[in-house]
This record gives sequence, C-alpha cells and structure tokens, in this order.
Amino acid sequence: MKIAIIYASTEGQTRKIAHHAKETLEGDGNDVTLRHATDANDLRLAEYDGVILAASVHAGRFQTELVDFAKDHSSALNAVNSLFLPVSLGAAGDDETEWNALRQYVRTLAADTGWSPARVEHVAGAFRFKEYDFFKYWAMRWFESSKDPSVPAGVDREYTDWDALDDALRDWTRA
Ligand SMILES: Cc1cc2nc3c(=O)[nH]c(=O)nc-3n(C[C@H](O)[C@H](O)[C@H](O)COP(=O)(O)O)c2cc1C
Repeated sequence: MKIAIIYASTEGQTRKIAHHAKETLEGDGNDVTLRHATDANDLRLAEYDGVILAASVHAGRFQTELVDFAKDHSSALNAVNSLFLPVSLGAAGDDETEWNALRQYVRTLAADTGWSPARVEHVAGAFRFKEYDFFKYWAMRWFESSKDPSVPAGVDREYTDWDALDDALRDWTRA
C-alpha cells in the first residue's frame, strides 16, 4: 500500500509516534511518505491508498498547522481511506469525562475542517518537561501529580502504548 503520514507536534511525542508508524508500516512492506503538516501541501492525496493525520491536544485543540491542512484538503481527505491519530494524556486513562472531551475535540475538528476521518484511534502521549516553558512547566507539574500520584512531580513519562498503536495500524491497513 502507498501511505502518507502527515503530522503536527508541539513537544515532540506526536512526531515520535508518526516516525514509529512509518517504521511499522514500512516493515510490513508499505511505501510510506512522512511529512510535517506545513510541508505536505504538494502531496497528491488521491494517489495514496491511505492517509494518516496525527496531532496532539493542547487545551482542547489540535495544532493549527494540522487543522489548516485538513481544511485545505478536506475533499481529498474525505475521498481516501483516512486515519486520524489524536494524541493526548486523556487517552492514557479511563476517565469518562476526559474521553467524552477527547471525542468532542475530534467532532469539532471535523466540523471546523469538513474532513470526517474514516477511522480515529486515540493515542496516549507523554509528559515532556524539558520542552515546557515556565508556565507550562508548573501547570503540567500540577496536572501530573493530580493524574498520577505515583510519579514524582516534574519527571518525564511516556504513556504511548507502542504495541497497541502497531495493532491499530495493521488493523487499519488490513481493512
Ligand atoms: C499546555 C498543555 C496542554 C494540554 N492539554 C491537554 C488537554 O486538554 N487534554 C489532554 O488530554 N491532554 C493535554 N495535554 C497533553 C498533550 O496532549 C500530551 O502531552 C501530548 O503527548 C503532546 O504531544 P506533542 O508532544 O506531540 O505535542 C496538554 C499538554 C500541554 C503541555
């Protein structure tokens, strides 16, 4: 299969996830093109058997670059087999309120862009304290200790389940 992966990332975890997806899909024999959302406008999406978009949640929103890309290419995206990978810390837990919020962010993205992803697979992200500015650092320290009291505050932690991601990618390519 010929697959395009287009992503946006603020602290780097979605970039890591996009690169991992490329490796997995290439390992399975697919031909994969990986681009950042600001560098993907020249891709002819109709030529791909599948297109993956990935972006992370920050205060309920996805990166503007990814939203703009989805808006500019909504018709082409709706015409291909598309997969959206929203990355968040809400997806690391089982809090129903957080999950409802995550689903709402995806609905809002669809309404704002006109792109309805054929499939959505939520992916758990990470705390990356070295990437935060002063305000984000303290906000995320508080968020981390309230979310996971077993982790010392201010310590990086990755929640991404790489095996589950691989399973989801393979299931999508099979379908
Ligand atoms: C300032 C800030 C706001 C965030 N807001 C949310 C949020 O509203 N919901 C959520 O589930 N995760 C939230 N997160 C967690 C990120 O989605 C998570 O850290 C993700 O791994 C970031 O991916 P990136 O490194 O590709 O940007 C937030 C993170 C930061 C730093």
